[in-house]
Amino acid sequence: MNASNEIAINWDRFDWQAFQKVQSILFNLVEKQGYRDIRLDFSNLKLAFPNGFVPLIVLAERYRQLSAVDFDVMLPNDDLCRNYIVDSNYAACLCPDAGHPITDKPNALHRFSDDASLNELINSQIHQILERATYAQGVLQSFEWALNEVAGNVLVHAGVDHGWMQVVVHPNTQHMAIVVADGGVGIPTAIREAFPSQVMDEDAIAHALKEGITSRPDFGQGKGLTGTLQIVKIHQGGRLSIHSLKGRVEWKNDRLDIKGDFPPFPGTFVDIQLNTAVPIEIERALWGDVPAYPFNDALYGKDTAVGVMRMKLADEAVGFGNRLTGLKIRNKIENLLAAAPNDVLEIDFTGVDLMASSFADEVFGKLALVLGFVGFGSRIRFVNINRFCRGILDDVVQSRIIQSHAKK
Ligand SMILES: Nc1ncnc2c1ncn2[C@@H]1O[C@H](COP(=O)(O)OP(=O)(O)OP(=O)(O)O)[C@@H](O)[C@H]1O
Ligand SMILES: [Mg+2]
Repeated sequence: MNASNEIAINWDRFDWQAFQKVQSILFNLVEKQGYRDIRLDFSNLKLAFPNGFVPLIVLAERYRQLSAVDFDVMLPNDDLCRNYIVDSNYAACLCPDAGHPITDKPNALHRFSDDASLNELINSQIHQILERATYAQGVLQSFEWALNEVAGNVLVHAGVDHGWMQVVVHPNTQHMAIVVADGGVGIPTAIREAFPSQVMDEDAIAHALKEGITSRPDFGQGKGLTGTLQIVKIHQGGRLSIHSLKGRVEWKNDRLDIKGDFPPFPGTFVDIQLNTAVPIEIERALWGDVPAYPFNDALYGKDTAVGVMRMKLADEAVGFGNRLTGLKIRNKIENLLAAAPNDVLEIDFTGVDLMASSFADEVFGKLALVLGFVGFGSRIRFVNINRFCRGILDDVVQSRIIQSHAKK
């Protein structure tokens, strides 16, 4: 059947609740009645929210791929709202063939498909937001850490070839939103592979938020989501909202709200809200009271007669946020160490202000496992490393060493 039908969005605002209503209507029109041409009429819309449009774009993409549905959009009459929908790439992503431009404007939605495109995207987002507002201490670091972790998860867990990211800063209201979405398997499905007893989707998401919970223990350490939750927990005004399949878990007003969600979201949608004016003690959020790992300069030894190889981390990649980039760098390090078994490798952190825990674990946590405590301490030397990166490094290496002891 090639009939067409129109969905009139008669609400002023398009947010998550409005998205769910449209999702139900689409289910009926496409899956029950077999329509293949859908017109979404946003003429009366005044306010567009990422938590309405981004999930709609994921859903539309799914219908386009699975059922060859063609979407057409009528833009809002309201000038501001229409410009926002075009400038933020919503129009282009909803109807890729309609000739809407893809822009690189601030607050726009972007697609990423591999670690290189994710690194570049995060860098460009950082440059953009730096120009747009001022940030209290720790907010930018928290933003960068959480964005790397949550977007990096799409690449390693979602089972699809791309994800979506939007960073919105409202300087007037001192508010920033980070949205990451994918149309993949969903957190509950991934979690149940390792924890089959997590039957309810919302419980599975809550489980994923606990420290050390990962469905891929060979690969991850379960730090990304728990650290993100920690950040919003210690940040007044911080919020985290995760929708995946039939589950919804939200941190708001100082409590974790765990609920069922219907209709189910076909993938994972993560929404992080920060107050740009409220400082975040990121060190407290991310490695809490973990005692400093007893690595200190004395352990590395003084410069000896052995040769020293050098690697400048900043030359190896444009971002230090995800495991896939980390894997490439670890391969290189292992190759260097193997090529010169008597040499020390000096890793220079100049220019690296921040790294995500998953990245650090992929490179240094796993390297510590391969080299062992003494090998790691004697063959790798860190120079020009700031306090933050050192804390992350201590934490991931310590977790790996504890893990290997537990296995023994
Ligand atoms: N986008 C996603 N799609 C599917 N499953 C996901 C997604 N994001 C997270 N998960 C699930 O949630 C679990 C916890 O995620 P989290 O980021 O905390 O840990 P991890 O990615 O496994 O390890 P690390 O973050 O330390 O690399 C993952 O192991 C995975 O099962
Ligand atoms: Mg992760």
